[in-house]
Amino acid sequence: MALVTSDRILKPARDGGYAVGAFNTSNLEISQAIFEAASELRAPVIVATSESAIKYAGYVNLFNMIKHLADYYDVTAALHLDHGKDLEVVVKCLRNGWTSVMIDASKEPFEENIAITSEVVKIAHMAGVPVEAELGRLSGIEDAVKVADAEAYLTDPDQAAEFVQRTHCDFLAVAIGTSHGAYKFKGDPRIDHERLSAITEKVSIPLVLHGASSVPEDVLARASKFGAKLPGAKGVPEEAISEAVSRGISKINIDTDLRLAFTGAVRQFLSEKPEVFDPRKIIGEAREAIKDVVRRKIQLFGSEGKAG
Ligand code: G3H
Ligand code: 13P
Ligand code: ZN
Repeated sequence: MALVTSDRILKPARDGGYAVGAFNTSNLEISQAIFEAASELRAPVIVATSESAIKYAGYVNLFNMIKHLADYYDVTAALHLDHGKDLEVVVKCLRNGWTSVMIDASKEPFEENIAITSEVVKIAHMAGVPVEAELGRLSGIEDAVKVADAEAYLTDPDQAAEFVQRTHCDFLAVAIGTSHGAYKFKGDPRIDHERLSAITEKVSIPLVLHGASSVPEDVLARASKFGAKLPGAKGVPEEAISEAVSRGISKINIDTDLRLAFTGAVRQFLSEKPEVFDPRKIIGEAREAIKDVVRRKIQLFGSEGKAG
C-alpha cells in the first residue's frame, strides 16, 4: 500500500476511540519489525524519524525504505517527522515525500510557539501534509519541586483550544506527565488523566502522547541480565496508557522500548554465542525482539484490525 498522510490514520482513530502507534526507526531491521508486526495484526502504523535519525540514515534512504516496506507488507502507513525543530528539515521532509510532519516549538513561549507552528502549517498544508504540534513540556510531574511548577509544564486545556484554533495544526501533542527516555519517574508513576479529559473536551483534533514507553519488566530484565546498566529505569504503566487512550489519545509515540528490546537481544546473543560474528544473525535477533514489542503495543493501543 502506498504511504498515506497521517490524518487518514488518525481521524478514524479519534472517531473510533483507539490509538495508533508511532514507532521510531533509523534502520532496516527496526523498520522491518514495525511493518511485520503491523502487517500480521492488520494495524495502521506511523513510522517516525527524528531529526537525528535522518542525519544518521539520510532522507532518500529512509523514504525509499519505508515506502517500499509499506508496499511490500501492504500496510497502511505514514512516514512522519518526529520533533521537527529546524524549518529546513521540515521542508526537506516535505520535498522528500514524508506524509506527516511535527513542528516542536514547545520550548518557546506560547505566542512564539503559535507563530512558528502557524508558519509550518501554512507550508505543509500547501504540500497536502498534516502537521503535529506540541504545547506544554514533557517532564515527570514529580520533577518539579512544587505542584505549581509542574502545572506550568503541563498542557493547559484552554490554551490548547486557543493554540489549535490559531495555528490550524492537525494533531496536538500534550504534556500530562510523561517524558522521553527510560527514566520517567523517580517514585510512583503519575499521569494527569483528568487534565487529558479536560483537553479532549475542548480540542477536537487527534491528541498525541509522547514519552509513552512502558520500560516493560521482561524487556528491561533481559537487557540487564546480559550486562545493560539501567538502574532505576521506569516507564508509563500499561494501565495508564489504556486509560489515556480511553480519554482521547489517538497517537502514541514509542522509541525507548524498541531500543531496550534491541539492546537486550543483541547483548544476549553476543554473550551466548561469542563465536558468531555474522551481523545478520546478531541484528536478526533484535528484529524479532522489536517485533514482539510492536505487537504488544498495537494490541494495547487497540489498533489491531483497524487497517482500512
Ligand atoms: O523523542 C525523541 C525520540 O526518542 C528520538 O530520539 O533524537 O535520539 O532519535 P533521537
Ligand atoms: P519514549 O522515549 O517514551 O519511547 O518516547 C518516544 C517519543 O516520544 C518519540 O517522539
Ligand atoms: Zn517525543
